[in-house]
Amino acid sequence: MKVLSKDELSIAKSELDRGNLVIFPTETVYGLGANALDFKAVDKIFEAKNRASNNPLIVHLKNKDEITKYAIINNDIEQKLIDSFMPGPFTLILEKKDIIPSNVTCNLDTVGIRIPIDEIAHNLLDQLDYPIAAPSANVSTRPSGTNIYDIIPEFDGKVAYIIDGGDSRIGLESTVCKVIDGIPTILRPGFITKEDIVDVVGVCNVSSFVMKEAVGKVESPGMMYKHYAPKTKCVLVDKEKLKEESKKYTKPIIIGSNEIDCFKYLNYGNDLVSIAHNIFKLLREADRLDGEVILVEAIEPNGLGLAIMNRLIRTCEYNYIKR
Ligand code: TXA
Ligand code: MG
Repeated sequence: MKVLSKDELSIAKSELDRGNLVIFPTETVYGLGANALDFKAVDKIFEAKNRASNNPLIVHLKNKDEITKYAIINNDIEQKLIDSFMPGPFTLILEKKDIIPSNVTCNLDTVGIRIPIDEIAHNLLDQLDYPIAAPSANVSTRPSGTNIYDIIPEFDGKVAYIIDGGDSRIGLESTVCKVIDGIPTILRPGFITKEDIVDVVGVCNVSSFVMKEAVGKVESPGMMYKHYAPKTKCVLVDKEKLKEESKKYTKPIIIGSNEIDCFKYLNYGNDLVSIAHNIFKLLREADRLDGEVILVEAIEPNGLGLAIMNRLIRTCEYNYIKR
């Protein structure tokens, strides 16, 4: 895989024009992108990621004027969400137009629309006359890629180019939101929180699957799968139980904010923004150490903490030791 700088976007453009994949930075996590209007190119994403064929992709646009080319804005609430949170780490599920190929949305009649605010992502989109379909740049079930060093080994030989944008600023994927029966509903929590949405619309629901396993028919298929998981066994543990739990193992790795004597301790920071920024990178780092288990310190699932806990509960496959 060749690493491109932000000044080599024309090479990325040619690759995308040819119907091939390019990995690019956004403010949330890196994306594995293809021409969203090219059915065959989109299929390559599913193949490279080993992604389930019923888990739809997000379509990335250069600006708000583009939205109605690809989707239908059906009400004032959707318009208000667009006005308030785009561009940014926010994906809105809208009724799709026919121009979006069926494999992008896995035959759903809706499409996830996002306008990244990251400068490199924006400059790349600006050069193209089509949008980019992109999931997070990680092989399915693994933690999302937030820097080129974590991503290159997973896609080397499968993808020709990655654009280097340094560490992802936010580090967690976008908030996925859908207006259901007139109420904004968070299907996947992210940097834009429930409180942020309540501030502009007055009301916001959170899918009941955010903190538990999704079964049956769900609004967001991505909630159903094993996710964000290192190869080493992971357990989510409340702060008060961490020390006691770590004593059950000979080589426990701990990721948290209060140092504990153990095989290897990794500090994820002291505030939610730092934890969001660091968590996927640290999970991969922990996985490279020869530990027996990764114990992750749980946090309160409020505000941005809800997005972090939504990812961690899946990383730990619902193994959570509470106080
Ligand atoms: O920040 C992000 O959102 C990153 C960057 C690259 O933009 N992308 C990302 O994509 O996280 P991905 O594919 O890893 O996650 C997309 C999520 C999945 O949970 C998927 O099920 C949901 O969005 N989704 C996409 N289209 C949908 C639709 N039409 N209806 C419901 N959920 C949808
Ligand atoms: Mg993903």
